[in-house]
Amino acid sequence: MSSTITLWRHARLATMAGDAATTPWGWIERGAFVTEGERLAWVGDGSALPADLARRVTREVDLGGACVTPALVDCHTHLVYAGDRAREFELRLQGASYEEIARAGGGIRSTVAATRAAGDDELLALATARARALMREGVAAVEVKSGYGLSLEHEARCLRAARRVAAATGLTVRTTCLAAHALPPEFDGRADDYVDAVVSWLPQLTAEGLVDAVDAFCERIAFTPAQTRRVFEAARTLGLPVKLHAEQLSDQGGAQLAASFGALSCDHLEHLSAEGVAAMAAAGTVAVLLPGAYYFLRDTTLPPVQALRDAGVPIALATDHNPGSSPTLSPLLMINMACTLFRLTPEEAVRGLTVNGARALGLSASHGTLETGKRADFAVWDLAHPRELAYRFGVNPLRRLVLGAEEASTS
Ligand code: NIG
Ligand code: FE
Repeated sequence: MSSTITLWRHARLATMAGDAATTPWGWIERGAFVTEGERLAWVGDGSALPADLARRVTREVDLGGACVTPALVDCHTHLVYAGDRAREFELRLQGASYEEIARAGGGIRSTVAATRAAGDDELLALATARARALMREGVAAVEVKSGYGLSLEHEARCLRAARRVAAATGLTVRTTCLAAHALPPEFDGRADDYVDAVVSWLPQLTAEGLVDAVDAFCERIAFTPAQTRRVFEAARTLGLPVKLHAEQLSDQGGAQLAASFGALSCDHLEHLSAEGVAAMAAAGTVAVLLPGAYYFLRDTTLPPVQALRDAGVPIALATDHNPGSSPTLSPLLMINMACTLFRLTPEEAVRGLTVNGARALGLSASHGTLETGKRADFAVWDLAHPRELAYRFGVNPLRRLVLGAEEASTS
C-alpha cells in the first residue's frame, strides 16, 4: 500500500536544523514541507519544491502562515507515580529543606509508598493523563524514568506503565531505569546491598524490553560516586546508555564519572565544576537543565551556563516532572524560566526542548528538527515567531500537534 504524500504549505518554519550561528532557528520564512507516511520527505522554501515530488503529492494542507517548529522532546520526566507531595511543599515553605525531609523518611520514600500501593491500571491512568498534558503543549517524545518502585516487582510495573503510555497516547517514549533513585526502607543502612540488588535486576528488566537507558541519583542523600559506578558498569555490560542526576544539591564529581561512561546526559548540574564541564564536553554529553526543580526547591545556585556554552556542551531543557521537586507539566513554562532564571536565549531554550532534548535521548536521527528523513512530528503555533514561546508564560499558543503526519489527540 502506498502511503499518503502530503504537502504542508504556507508555514513560517523554525526547523531548528543546522548551526545556530549561521541559520538562527533554522528559519525558513516561506516554508513548506512534504510528508510521506510518518516521515518528512522534503523541507524547504515553498517555491523550491522539486517538480517530481510535487507530482506525487496526494493531499495538501494550507497552514495559513502559522509558525511551525519540531514537536517538543521532554528528555527528563518521572511521569509514573501515585500520590502527591503538597504537604511537603507546605513544610518546605515553613522552613524545612528538601534534604531534611528526605532524611526524615519523607520525600522520594513517601512517593514510593504511594506508588507501591497503587494498581497497574491506576499507575497507567495517572501517567497517561500527565503525558496528555505535555502533549497539549506540543510534546511528541518523552523520557519516562522509573525510580518510585525500588524493588524488582515495582520497578518493572512502573516501566511497563511507561511503555503502555506510548501505546495509549501515540507519544514516542524512552524508558530509563532509575532504580538507584533512593534507598527503599527494607534496605535501611545497607546501601551497598541495595546497589547489588539493582545490579541483579537490570538484566531481567532489560530482557523484558523495559529499559532504554540507566540513570542514578548521585548525591549526599542518595548514592555515592562509587555506588553509581557499579550501576553504570552493570549498564555497560548490558550495552545500555547511561544518564545521571548529577550535582543537583552538591558537587559529587558525578559529571566526570558519567562522562567517563560516555553518558547521554547529565541532568540538574547547579553545582557542576569546571572539571565536570570539561569532561562532559570531551565526552559529548548533553547538559540537561531543569529550571522547574531549581525554582520549586527555591535554589539559589545557578548552573554554569556560560561555562557550558564556552565549552560547546549542548544544552537541553526538560520539565523533570515529579511530585517532589518539579510538579509541573508545562514545557512552555520551562522555556520561559530557562530564559528568566538561567539567562538562556529564547533560541537556546527552544533548542533545549527540541534538537538537544532529542540528543539527550539518543533520538537525533528521528526527532528534534524538521529535516528530511526524520519523523513528521511537529507543532503549529499561533505565533508570529518562535521567540514568543519564551516571551509568554502561562499562555498556550499551540494550535495543533501532528505526530507521524497525523493530527494527535490530546484528550
Ligand atoms: O529530578 N533529584 C532526584 N530526583 C527527582 C526528585 C524526586 C522527588 O523528589 O520525588 C528530581 O529532582
Ligand atoms: Fe529528575
